[in-house]
Amino acid sequence: EKGTYEHYMLKEIDEQPPVIRKIIQEYSNDKNELEIDSDIRQALLDVDRIYIIAAGTSYNAGLIGKEFIEKIARVHTEVFVASEFSYNMPLLSQKPLFIFISQSGETADSRAVLVQVKELGYKTLTITNVPGSTLSREADYTLLLHAGPEIAVASTKAYTAQMAVLAILAVDLARAKGSSVPFDVTQELGLVANAMETLCNEKEEMEQIAEEYLSVSRNCFFIGRAVDYYVCLEGSLKLKEISYIQAEGFAGGELKHGTIALIENRTPIIALTTQQHVNLGIRGNVQEVIARGANACIISMEGLEQINDRLVLPHVLDLFTPFVSVVPLQLIAYYAARQRGCDIDKPRNLAKSVTVE
Ligand code: F6R
Repeated sequence: EKGTYEHYMLKEIDEQPPVIRKIIQEYSNDKNELEIDSDIRQALLDVDRIYIIAAGTSYNAGLIGKEFIEKIARVHTEVFVASEFSYNMPLLSQKPLFIFISQSGETADSRAVLVQVKELGYKTLTITNVPGSTLSREADYTLLLHAGPEIAVASTKAYTAQMAVLAILAVDLARAKGSSVPFDVTQELGLVANAMETLCNEKEEMEQIAEEYLSVSRNCFFIGRAVDYYVCLEGSLKLKEISYIQAEGFAGGELKHGTIALIENRTPIIALTTQQHVNLGIRGNVQEVIARGANACIISMEGLEQINDRLVLPHVLDLFTPFVSVVPLQLIAYYAARQRGCDIDKPRNLAKSVTVE
């Protein structure tokens, strides 16, 4: 139930820290290490490439999952939009494994790919919030999100839960392959939950940012580099679907190759910078858009902040910044929609699970 909340979406944003803690609990073994089911570990050890298939927000979580699996476990991983996969079927490796990421477990586009790759005899794993869902029943293996029911059409806690489960999968796989993992994942995810909570307690600030940057705008650009770019894709999807502001997530360096033509006086730009190695680059991009009149809101990670940054995120492990940086973007989208009087939990034209191809 919604309780004292005006909308499920806000409740579900606030549930993210406890959901991360619940996932830590659910995936801890008796030695207090995070692990996945040994059958799934075995299946993963046996593959030479992972193909992630998903739609919408789950696809955006898959992009981060690829980072985790490649950087932590060093297994080649590719991510595909489910509805495009069969047209652009890649040359598959010798021993692929398919991971379907789906909050509902009912997305028809993802199911179509599942059916197709099962016919080819490949191994399949579903990561879903709904036990007994179609994708869970039909795949060889399932990992659950333990996020509790997600009622708002715009997905929030499922996105961060998907990333958490993918991080645990990556760490388990690295260990099983005999590689050392240079951080304590339980501890780092715990810190992530605390940092998310800090941001959930700064709602007035997010409300003000929405007011300041988005109250009269018809469009908005989110820019970032590296993993920040992936989070920008999710931030722009959230803003579009609930506030109907046209939004685009863009790779900072790509802007000058065309899209910068759209920048006008007061065009809102939300820029993310959470990684040392992209900090200078993205700040350069911000200067380029400001020089063309943009109204830029910089969100940076503690340690990288500069004087005019609008919001500074609590520091977490570099790899895990998406858990934290997405929270203000979810809240900014929420308040922008609320200020416009939109139907936040049931945006126009959208359904919670898309069961047609
Ligand atoms: C965005 C959103 C959609 C879903 C997409 C996939 O907020 O809710 O983009 O993420 O339809 O749904 P699932 O994860 O249920 O397969």
